Amino acid sequence: MGQRLGGKVALVTGAGSAGAGWGNGMAAAVLFAREGARVFAVDRDERAVERTRAVIEAEGGACTAFVADVSSPAAVAAMVEACVGGFGGLDILHNNVGVASLGGLLDIDEHAWDRALRINITSMFLTCRRAIPHMVEAYRRDGRIRSIVNVGAVAGRRWTGVPMLAYATSKGAVEPFTRSVALQYARDGIRCNCVLPGLMNTPFVMEPLKQAYGDVDRLIEARDEQSPTGEMGTAWDVAHAALYLASDESNFVNAHALVVDGGQSQQTWRPV
Ligand SMILES: NC(=O)c1ccc[n+]([C@@H]2O[C@H](COP(=O)([O-])OP(=O)(O)OC[C@H]3O[C@@H](n4cnc5c(N)ncnc54)[C@H](O)[C@@H]3O)[C@@H](O)[C@H]2O)c1
Repeated sequence: MGQRLGGKVALVTGAGSAGAGWGNGMAAAVLFAREGARVFAVDRDERAVERTRAVIEAEGGACTAFVADVSSPAAVAAMVEACVGGFGGLDILHNNVGVASLGGLLDIDEHAWDRALRINITSMFLTCRRAIPHMVEAYRRDGRIRSIVNVGAVAGRRWTGVPMLAYATSKGAVEPFTRSVALQYARDGIRCNCVLPGLMNTPFVMEPLKQAYGDVDRLIEARDEQSPTGEMGTAWDVAHAALYLASDESNFVNAHALVVDGGQSQQTWRPV
């Protein structure tokens, strides 16, 4: 246990994991708690978020589990009020929620398109609108800078080899969203940055993407092969990047997109 986030309250969305094993949000929630944060863990899946809370508490950390769908304005309002009311503040907002959806222009319907945009980017609009007024007010009181960390994806910048139109488009919006919030609130004690994961081995990708590759084994093989290191990254790689951006160590880092992809986006595209 360290104290890189000592004394801070961190709200983590999508703090459960979509399946067995570690998702990015679950790893971030646990890592933030290991570094001294009190974690307000949010997920729409009660069992998943309770699992995260149990891990944190078993390690001696502090966590409240809260069930909310972050694409719902009312649920987001209740979530932020419960965090500020229960923990007395909100220092770190980690917008981790995202859903993967397979399909190109003629494969998906308007419902799938709207759903991806609503969950992947509108959710950030909703959480920031609710959280930022509290953060600004707290900064005016105590002069301590607050941090927002959004999770985008390299898929928002670059073709991944499989058509994921709505996912790529919604994730591509995370960078300009982050930049706009960061620069608007830079004098109000708020930093806003994003992490762009590349190919990560988390439960999140297995179910929605397996049909593009045939089966899960082939999916893992193909994604490992696309990585310059020969292996996908893990949820901990994303969580450690988020920890840096959440902590005061990144005090002068603002409007930044931190790519966590083993160098994949710098190499020539290699179809597999
Ligand atoms: N795994 C990868 O390869 C990869 C790559 C790039 C970016 N990402 C991004 O990382 C983030 C997390 O991915 P992960 O792999 O940990 O996924 P995950 O599925 O393990 O975790 C996401 C959690 O979010 C929850 N969730 C989904 N929709 C929600 C909603 N509307 N409200 C509240 N909770 C909701 C799920 O129940 C799940 O517990 C996502 O934003 C994803 O786009 C992942």
